[in-house]
Amino acid sequence: MINPTEHIADQFGRIHDYLRISLTERCNLRCFYCMPEDGIVLSEKSNLMSHEEVIAIAQQFVQLGVKKIRLTGGEPLLKKNIEKIIEELSQLPISLGITTNGILLEKYIDLFNKCGVKDINISLDTLNKEKFEQITRRDYFDKVLSNIDLYEKNGFNVKINNVIIKGTNDDEIADFIAFTKNRNIAIRFIEFMPFDGNKWNTEKIITLDDILKVAKERFSEENIITLKSKKNGTAKNFRINGFKGEFGVISTVSNPFCDSCNRIRLTANGRIKNCLFSSTETDLLTPLRNGENIAEHIKKGILHKFKVRGGMETNEDFFNEDNFTKNRNMTTIGG
Ligand code: GTP
Ligand code: 5AD
Ligand code: SF4
Repeated sequence: MINPTEHIADQFGRIHDYLRISLTERCNLRCFYCMPEDGIVLSEKSNLMSHEEVIAIAQQFVQLGVKKIRLTGGEPLLKKNIEKIIEELSQLPISLGITTNGILLEKYIDLFNKCGVKDINISLDTLNKEKFEQITRRDYFDKVLSNIDLYEKNGFNVKINNVIIKGTNDDEIADFIAFTKNRNIAIRFIEFMPFDGNKWNTEKIITLDDILKVAKERFSEENIITLKSKKNGTAKNFRINGFKGEFGVISTVSNPFCDSCNRIRLTANGRIKNCLFSSTETDLLTPLRNGENIAEHIKKGILHKFKVRGGMETNEDFFNEDNFTKNRNMTTIGG
C-alpha cells in the first residue's frame, strides 16, 4: 500500500506532483514541428523502460507525493503492453490521463472506461484534410476527427492540442473556436516552441493577443468570457457565450507560466527531465536496474531545476540556438 509521506520540491519551493511519462519514442505521424524530416535515431530497445520498470518508477514517484500521471510518447498507444501499464497505473492513488495523436483511440475506449482514464488530450492542428497531410506527412485526418467525436460523445474530458504557427494554420483560429460551439471539448492553441531541427523562428509565433484579436473579430468582444485559471494550469482559458466547449492559449514562449510549474518528465529510456527545456537529465533506469533506491536520485534531479524554461529567462534567449539545440526533440520528450 502506497502511503505518500514526502514531496518533491525544488530550490524555489515548487512542489512537483505531476509526472508525465513518455512511454515510447516511436510515433505513427511525422509532424514537422515535432520531428526532423529524416526522423530520429531511436534508443536501443534494451535501454528503454519495460512495462514492469515503468510501474516500479511510477510507484516510487507516487510514494514521493505525485498525484497525477499523464502518459505521452512519441505516441503512447504504440507501447507494447499498453493495456497492462494502464491497468496497473490505474491501481495507484492518482488521476491518470493520456496525450495522444488520436489515431488508435477507438481501440482503447473500453479500457479507458474500465480504468477511469478520463483526461484525453488529442493533437489536431488543422481542420483541413490536405493540410493535415502536409503537417503530419500522413493520411489519418478522418480517423482522428472521428475519434475526437467518439470520445466527446462518450463523456471523456477531451482537450485538443493545436500548435499554432504563422503561415501554416493561423488562418484557422476562428474555425477552431467555432468547432467548440456544439462540442464539450477544449481547444488549446500552443505557441510553437523551438527544438533541434524543427524550422522554428520567432516570427512564426502566434500570441494570446493575436488569438483574442481573431476571436473578437469573429465572435465579438462582449461574447468572450474569461474563465478562471486552473491551479498549475498551462493555459489561459476562454469560452464564447453560448458555446458548449472552450478555448485556451498556452504561451510558453511569449509569457511562460513557470512560477507554478509542478511537472516532471520521465523519458522512455528512464531519465527525468526537470523541465521541458532542460538540457540535462537524471538517469533513474540504471540505478533501478542496479537495485538502488531511486528516491534520492529523483529529489536531487528536481532540486536544481531552473526558475524559468531551463534557464532561458528572456525572449532574447530564444535567439541563441545553443540554448535549445542541446535539448531532445519533442518526439522523445512527449510535450
Ligand atoms: P493537462 O493535464 O490537461 O493540464 O495537460 P497539459 O496541458 O499539461 O498536457 P498536454 O500533454 O496536453 O500538453 C499540451 C502542451 O502544453 C504540451 O505539448 C506543451 O506544448 C505544453 N506544456 C505542457 N506542459 C508544459 C510545461 O510544463 N511547460 C511548458 N513550457 N509547456 C508545457
Ligand atoms: N511546440 C509546441 N508544442 C509542441 N508539441 C510538439 N511539438 C511542439 C512544438 N514544437 C506538442 C503537440 C502535442 C504534444 C505532445 O506536444 O501539441 O500535442
Ligand atoms: Fe515548467 Fe520548464 Fe515548462 Fe517552465 S518551461 S513550466 S519550468 S517545464
